[in-house]
Amino acid sequence: MEKVVLVTGANSGIGLALCERLLSQDSELQLCLACRNMGRAEAARSALLTSHPGAHVDLLHLDVGSVRSVLRAAQEVKTRYPRVDHLYLNAGIMPNPQIDVKAFFKGLFSSNVIHMFATAEGLLTQKDRRNSDGLQEVFATNLFGHFLLVRELEPLLCGTERSSQVVWTSSSNALRSAFSLEDLQHGSGAEPYSSSKYATDLLSLALNRHHNAQGLFSSVICPGLVMTNMTYGILPSFFWTFLMPIMWFMDVDDETSEALYGGLLELEKVIRRQITEEPDSQ
Ligand SMILES: NC(=O)c1ccc[n+]([C@@H]2O[C@H](COP(=O)([O-])OP(=O)(O)OC[C@H]3O[C@@H](n4cnc5c(N)ncnc54)[C@H](OP(=O)(O)O)[C@@H]3O)[C@@H](O)[C@H]2O)c1
Repeated sequence: MEKVVLVTGANSGIGLALCERLLSQDSELQLCLACRNMGRAEAARSALLTSHPGAHVDLLHLDVGSVRSVLRAAQEVKTRYPRVDHLYLNAGIMPNPQIDVKAFFKGLFSSNVIHMFATAEGLLTQKDRRNSDGLQEVFATNLFGHFLLVRELEPLLCGTERSSQVVWTSSSNALRSAFSLEDLQHGSGAEPYSSSKYATDLLSLALNRHHNAQGLFSSVICPGLVMTNMTYGILPSFFWTFLMPIMWFMDVDDETSEALYGGLLELEKVIRRQITEEPDSQ
């Protein structure tokens, strides 16, 4: 049976690249691009069908920043599909990002420099506002609209014979320091994006606790630093061209993960040798 896959924010950047990848790996799937801007969604669909002629690609209007739109879209999904196998919650905003230049130069010459480049902690602020539902826009878009979508689609995600996967696009900029339970929407701070992404990580944990038994499994991913409309909203492209080599040198995670992998393989060899050499005492 064809898998049903729904991707929010599928009309550009990481969402569109994800759809390309999904169709390359499984041309049989039923892919639904859930987008706010339908003009861009049509263009994304055409691009996908050019590289994957014959693919099954649907469009769904969804503004995750609007409660009514989420409820309408979820209703539409329920009438179109019998279940949802993979739900990629990827749409996100970072409005009016500002770089704290003073903090940047201070961090550049401090022992904190790698952490600063890896997470942008203390470096990046945004200007948020209330939306027409009376919610903070970043919280509403990045987190709450998606939460509501999961809640509405529970009948299609839970309790079916097969398990379903909910995958959130989080970020290394998800910072505990930006999040407070007393100010869930981050109405009084200047880092709503970091707060919303940290809340995303927490929510994913909670969803697992509440829904694993019904076959819903949630996870978060960080795509790394990707040149998209969002990153070009932070700095113009020529700045990124200058910064990328520095970031590349500072990307310790790849190196560390390889070192960890090598270390684990070595340890595995030692442990395997040990258990074959030692008599089983049980
Ligand atoms: N780029 C990076 O380096 C990076 C790093 C870590 C995490 N991320 C995360 O990756 C995700 C995708 O971002 P991106 O980098 O690919 O940026 P992008 O190209 O700006 O894509 C953002 C997507 O979200 C959609 N979107 C925004 N507000 C929406 C709303 N209210 N309802 C429905 N869709 C909405 C946009 O659609 P419209 O056409 O309607 O605007 C667009 O398709 C985001 O969650 C972001 O936080 C990105």
